[in-house]
Amino acid sequence: MLEVRNVSAAYGTALVLKNINIRVGSNEIVSLIGANGAGKTTTLRVISGMLKPIGGEVMLEGRNIAGMEPFQIASLGLVHVPEGRGLFPEMTVMENLEMGAYLRKDKDGIRRDLEFVYSLFPVLKEREKQLAGTLSGGEQQMLAIAKGLMGAPKLLLLDEPSLGLSPVMVDRIFDAISQINRERGVPILIAEQNAYMALSASHRAYVIENGSTVMEGIGKELLGNDHVRRAYLGI
Ligand SMILES: Nc1ncnc2c1ncn2[C@@H]1O[C@H](COP(=O)(O)OP(=O)(O)O)[C@@H](O)[C@H]1O
Ligand SMILES: [Mg+2]
Repeated sequence: MLEVRNVSAAYGTALVLKNINIRVGSNEIVSLIGANGAGKTTTLRVISGMLKPIGGEVMLEGRNIAGMEPFQIASLGLVHVPEGRGLFPEMTVMENLEMGAYLRKDKDGIRRDLEFVYSLFPVLKEREKQLAGTLSGGEQQMLAIAKGLMGAPKLLLLDEPSLGLSPVMVDRIFDAISQINRERGVPILIAEQNAYMALSASHRAYVIENGSTVMEGIGKELLGNDHVRRAYLGI
């Protein structure tokens, strides 16, 4: 589905990604873990076209999308739920969901996906007419993921879905992520500082340090790796 090969990227003259290599298979949940500032967000921004890489390839279904514009990449079915959630706070829950589907014309599919996101997050249906900016942090994260799903993603990128949420809410969000992957077969790439949750929920994972992917493995196996335990799990 996705293959990132030897990607490098910079902000101005500051080289922040040096050697990023990531693969996401067609039915996988893959996570990218690493410390604050390691380059997780920048990697997702390169994949979705918000930042042009200075080297390397980003292959989406066999086609190099590196250097394409974000709207072109979105139209290929790549949906990026950014850090900070990317909602329209002055619009209602329903309007945000409609915005998520704005590139689509298949009315029946849109209706089916709306039913799915409401079954996944019933609280969003209850709050259909509420302004997004007035939702709790957890509800906003649910809405951000739901809005992403309304775009019928072929590949979903989630940046820090656990950020700022209570442990109970983090569990609920990760349960929903697993359910989306299981029931919809959507491949998902998650950038996440909460290494324990990310590794527990992922099929495979990559560790990113100083702008390079330095380790990869099965999610649950990395939970047992000494370096990962010391550096990212604090045990
Ligand atoms: N817009 C920006 N301009 C300049 N430097 C940036 C910008 N965004 C991020 N950086 C720098 O790039 C590095 C990687 O940041 P980021 O990808 O946000 O890391 P992470 O998501 O892993 O916390 C950091 O050193 C950060 O300070
Ligand atoms: Mg980040």
